Amino acid sequence: MTSPQTFRIKSFGCQMNVYDGERMAELLAAQGMRAVGDKDDADLVVLNTCHIREKAVEKAYSDVGRLRRDDGSKPLVALAGCVAQAEGEEARSRSKMIDMVVGPQAYHRLPQMIRQAAAGRPAVDTDMPAISKFDALPRRRRTGVSAFLSVQEGCDKFCTYCVVPYTRGAEISRPARDILAEAQQLVEGGAREITLLGQNVNGWTDASFGGLATLIRSLARIDGVERIRYTTSHPINMDEDLITAHAEVEELMPYLHLPVQSGSDAILKSMNRHHTVESYLRTIERVRAVRPDIAISGDFIVGFPGETDADFEATLQIVDHVRYASAFSFKYSPRPGTPAATMENQIPAPVMDERLQRLQARIAEHSSAFNCATVGKTIRILIDRVGRKSGQMIGKSPWLQSVVVETDAPIGSLLDVAITGSGPNSLFGDLLVRAEAA
Ligand code: SAH
Ligand code: SF4
Ligand code: F3S
Repeated sequence: MTSPQTFRIKSFGCQMNVYDGERMAELLAAQGMRAVGDKDDADLVVLNTCHIREKAVEKAYSDVGRLRRDDGSKPLVALAGCVAQAEGEEARSRSKMIDMVVGPQAYHRLPQMIRQAAAGRPAVDTDMPAISKFDALPRRRRTGVSAFLSVQEGCDKFCTYCVVPYTRGAEISRPARDILAEAQQLVEGGAREITLLGQNVNGWTDASFGGLATLIRSLARIDGVERIRYTTSHPINMDEDLITAHAEVEELMPYLHLPVQSGSDAILKSMNRHHTVESYLRTIERVRAVRPDIAISGDFIVGFPGETDADFEATLQIVDHVRYASAFSFKYSPRPGTPAATMENQIPAPVMDERLQRLQARIAEHSSAFNCATVGKTIRILIDRVGRKSGQMIGKSPWLQSVVVETDAPIGSLLDVAITGSGPNSLFGDLLVRAEAA
């Protein structure tokens, strides 16, 4: 096979994978390759996969299968991301379509791997090298108005259901200096909002610099950084400094994604979450005390092994108590190699289905109440895409709601709008004054 000229990258899973996908695209572009759209026939396809639930893994393999072309030929195929890390060599015995297997900490080596694979020799690299991939990646180029920036990777928490500590490795924080330099590049490339990413982003630390709150304060001082967000936080790492930053740093948006997983202490203990319902609620109270308008979001797992009706009722209770602005909820999926997969009292699928439905209905009630409460307010939105109807643009509220507004203001504009209505997926606003041109 000749060396590929065009490529397509598909990312699944969390925002860290989206970030990695962008960095891989920049890396391949720097090699002279050209990105092509979804429907085009790329010479190289990178599937940047997620291993978090069983369904995600099945999807990765079925996507690989579908890459064979009508004439029987195939592109070069790289399996990247967390399935690649977890399966390593195995992946190639599951599908002969795969030419390269590259883990989340090794993708800076893709150019060499592509040369090797194009010469007919499959390449597998799931190393977690001591030298950070970030040092080997090209500068950030043009980005969207809202950019992701990974600051911390890996996880040492070892929740008993979760594969992340195995697929992403130990918790590592990038140095503050590198992060601030990358933020500067992102702003020069068009970003006005930066979302700091990490599996445990609020555990970020740089010994000679400080914790996440200090990093946020430094980022806020960069000219052009209008909005800052961070995700995902672990409840045990919500320190006083970070909470105070929510009161003091104007650029820090009033939004906190703080997964609790369950409302039952017995289940939290069995999940090895390191927090209780009470300590979690106390954290929420402290954050709300300094920033009363903050939107709280979360993640939930239903049907964890041993979850009784009473445990599940306790989860519904915590949802009512916190009044989440939004939340993700999942059926427990046993993952090979994790402690929970072999626990007794696995919950039957129909029970999980019923619980998930009830939980999602309850979350939807609170989420819609949260959105309705915005109606009548005047808020500032950051325009990030074109609306469906002509003359419409869509922007994000500080609380991450999509707001549809009639305006000719370009993407990147900050606008003050009066919220007039709320639909299932978005709010509607009337333009007041142009806050600031892009
Ligand atoms: N570090 C982050 C993200 C972890 S993955 C965190 O701690 O929140 C995102 C979510 O997937 C988790 O919060 C959890 O709700 C869900 N999840 C993880 N493993 C799962 C599993 N085996 N089955 C079902 N949901 C799972
Ligand atoms: Fe997984 Fe728990 Fe780590 Fe989150 S904190 S990545 S759920 S082990
Ligand atoms: Fe999935 Fe890996 Fe993210 S398992 S959720 S892509 S860290």
